[in-house]
Amino acid sequence: MNSARIAIYPGTFDPITNGHLDLIGRAARIFDRVVVAVADNKNKTPLFTMPERVRLAVEAVSELDSVQVVSFENLLVQCAREHGAGVILRGLRAVSDFEFEFQLAGMNRHLDKDLETLFLTPSEKYAFISSSVIREIARLGGDISPFVTEKVNAALAEKYA
Ligand code: COA
Repeated sequence: MNSARIAIYPGTFDPITNGHLDLIGRAARIFDRVVVAVADNKNKTPLFTMPERVRLAVEAVSELDSVQVVSFENLLVQCAREHGAGVILRGLRAVSDFEFEFQLAGMNRHLDKDLETLFLTPSEKYAFISSSVIREIARLGGDISPFVTEKVNAALAEKYA
């Protein structure tokens, strides 16, 4: 399979949200295969363990045949190579995302000049959500059901019970 037709979508996914799923759905219509890559991000202290984040992501994409979920602890470019991906997919929700994304894309290009970074924008109804905002609202007992799957909602309720 042409590697340009396989995209890797990396993130911490703590937990996966409908905003991520919106992006994955868009990507699945463009690429033959989408690899959702759950990062062991040492810059963050995740609420959910790696196996939990992977399980929630696997459940959330179960109806999308061309989407698979993997975890990785090494460089993203290495993970992309291992899975034959030619494109790194990232979401841009607002201008504030740009600076970090610009740095990430530039560094990944330095590390592997053959990997292209492609940006998609999620539906505007998810433009203002992030995993940490979702966690915060869940912790304080607010309604997050419009922004996560039922299983993620239940998993958050269990964590904060
Ligand atoms: N909808 C809703 N929220 C979204 C979103 C979308 N479409 N896209 C991003 N977000 C949110 C995430 O939930 C996350 O929220 P939080 O910070 O409140 O938890 C935030 O935006 C940023 O997350 P994300 O875009 O997934 O980035 P990240 O910081 O979690 O992950 C990595 C960054 C993992 C991709 C990067 O560190 C990496 O590639 N690491 C691997 C090691 C490596 O190769 N390092 C060198 C890179 S040059």
